[in-house]
Amino acid sequence: MKTIVLFNSKTGFTKRYAEWLGEMTGCTVMPFEKAVSLDLTPYGTVIFASWFHAGMIQKLGSFKKMNLNGKNRIVMVTGSNPPGLAETDTAIQNNFKNDGEKYKVFYLPGGLSYEKMGIGDKIMMAGFRKIIKKANGEDSDMYKRISHSYDNTSKEYLQPLVSYLNSL
Ligand SMILES: Cc1cc2nc3c(=O)[nH]c(=O)nc-3n(C[C@H](O)[C@H](O)[C@H](O)COP(=O)(O)O)c2cc1C
Repeated sequence: MKTIVLFNSKTGFTKRYAEWLGEMTGCTVMPFEKAVSLDLTPYGTVIFASWFHAGMIQKLGSFKKMNLNGKNRIVMVTGSNPPGLAETDTAIQNNFKNDGEKYKVFYLPGGLSYEKMGIGDKIMMAGFRKIIKKANGEDSDMYKRISHSYDNTSKEYLQPLVSYLNSL
C-alpha cells in the first residue's frame, strides 16, 4: 500500500520532516498545493504535514475537504513547542473537534526561523513576545525561547509515526 506526504511549510521545518519521512519510508513527498491536480487512487495512506499558527493547523480545512474515503488519514504538525506539552494536546483537540476519529495526529517539534518568516508573522511574533514579557517576565523560559530563531527538529521524533505506518 502506497503512502504520500503532502506538506505545507513556510519556513522549512515541516518540509524537512516530510523529506526525512520520505527517506526513512520510501513514501512519495509533495507540496500540498500540487495535491489538487493529483490522482490519489494509488495511495492507501495520505499524510498531511503542516504547522501551528496561533493554535490553528495551517490549511487543515483544505485537507479535510479532500475526498479520502477508504484511505488512512494522518496529520503531522510542527510547532515551536517541545514535545509532550499538555497545551499542544489541547491545541490538537481544538483542530479536530467533531472529526478527531478520522485522523491519526502526530506532533513534531519544529522551531522558529525569524529569517524566513513573512512580515505579518514577524509582527504577530513581536506582539506575542510583548504579551509574554508582560505576563511571564523577560527571564521566563517561554520569553527566552521565542526571542530568537532555533531549530528543534530531529529525525528521532518521526519514529512513532514510522512505527504507526509499519503497523497499517
Ligand atoms: C505567527 C506564528 C504563530 C505561531 N503559533 C504557534 C502556535 O500556536 N503553537 C506552536 O507550537 N507553534 C507556533 N508557531 C511556530 C511554528 O508552528 C513553527 O515555527 C513551525 O515549525 C513552522 O513550520 P514551517 O517551518 O514548516 O513553516 C508559530 C509561528 C508563527 C510565525
